[in-house]
Parts: sequence; C-alpha cells; structure tokens
Amino acid sequence: MSNFFDKLTVRHLTKDDLDSIVEIDTKVLGEARREYWVTKIIKEADTRPSDASLVSEIDGKVVGFILGEVSGWEFKVPNNIGWIDTIGIDPDYQNRGIAKVLATALVANLKTYGVDTIYTLVNWNDWDLLQFFHAMGFSRGDMINLVLKV
Ligand SMILES: CC(C)(COP(=O)(O)OP(=O)(O)OC[C@H]1O[C@@H](n2cnc3c(N)ncnc32)[C@H](O)[C@@H]1OP(=O)(O)O)[C@@H](O)C(=O)NCCC(=O)NCCS
Repeated sequence: MSNFFDKLTVRHLTKDDLDSIVEIDTKVLGEARREYWVTKIIKEADTRPSDASLVSEIDGKVVGFILGEVSGWEFKVPNNIGWIDTIGIDPDYQNRGIAKVLATALVANLKTYGVDTIYTLVNWNDWDLLQFFHAMGFSRGDMINLVLKV
C-alpha cells in the first residue's frame, strides 16, 4: 500500500487533461460527455483558480480529478465560500484513498483563499458520493434544492 501512495502524485489540472477526464467520466457514467468537459475544462478555465482543479496520476496516467472553485474569485471579490464541483476516480483505481487525497489537497488550497466553508451538491440517489463526502466530514447543509419544471 505504501508503494501505491509513493507512486500517486497530485498536480493542477490543465486543458491537456481533457481526454483523460472524458475517459474517466465515460467509464464512470457509461456515456461520453465531451462537450460538457470542453466547457468545464477549457471554456471556463479562467473562472477558477488554477489550484482549485487537481488531477492525480499514477505512473503518469491520470486516474482521478477534482474540480473546485472559490465564490467571487473570478470578480476578485473576497469570499469565504468554496465549492467542490465534481470529483471522479477511474473505477479501476477506486477504494484506494485517491479521492481522499485529492479532496484533502483541494480543501488545503481553498483555505489559502480565505475559504472556511465548502459546499457541494450531490444527487440524493448517489450513494457512493454521499458516503464519500460523509467520510470526508461533510454533513447536510441548511439549503434545500427547489425545482420548477416548465
Ligand atoms: C465517490 C468516489 C469519488 C470515491 O473515490 P475513491 O477514490 O474510491 O474514495 P476513497 O478511496 O478516497 O475513499 C475515501 C473515504 O470515502 C469512503 N467511501 C468512498 N466511496 C465509498 C462508498 N461507495 N461507500 C462507502 N464509503 C465510501 C471510503 O471508505 C473512505 O473512508 P475512510 O476515509 O473513512 O477510510 C468515486 O467512487 C467516484 O469517482 N465515483 C463516481 C462519482 C461521479 O459520479 N462523478 C461524476 C462523474 S466522473
């Protein structure tokens, strides 16, 4: 196990990671959403601090990613709220602590912007993510999600 963590590295996500992220997302969800990721990773790149989106690699292969943000950062407005937007770990590499390493690194980076509260949204049926965020110390917040279909 120590061998595994020795090999695991974390670095900032770049636009060149697009293909790797699409591949992981496709493995996780069973469908390719390339346009979605082009928007998130390339078109919206300047709306997030560069150290709020991270990837983990093993032997140079991207095996997981996390996208976070700092509210107001884009507009240079100081804000104590951070977000975890998305996290995804290659199914072949899940249950080894990689998501925990990524989320811990992201939280540390968000704190350097003055963030003291981090939000994330999880689908009520997404048991894996709910369990993961619970294990990371997240609890239910005060906001509820309202929907109007028109
Ligand atoms: C949820 C997810 C991020 C967890 O990644 P992971 O690398 O397997 O998680 P880790 O091994 O780092 O686990 C960290 C902690 O969460 C817990 N955990 C993670 N997944 C869990 C699960 N399904 N059930 C129970 N606990 C879980 C672990 O037990 C661990 O707890 P511990 O710190 O007390 O030991 C991963 O399963 C995933 O990417 N799922 C798909 C998410 C998704 O749909 N993303 C959008 C599209 S890519």
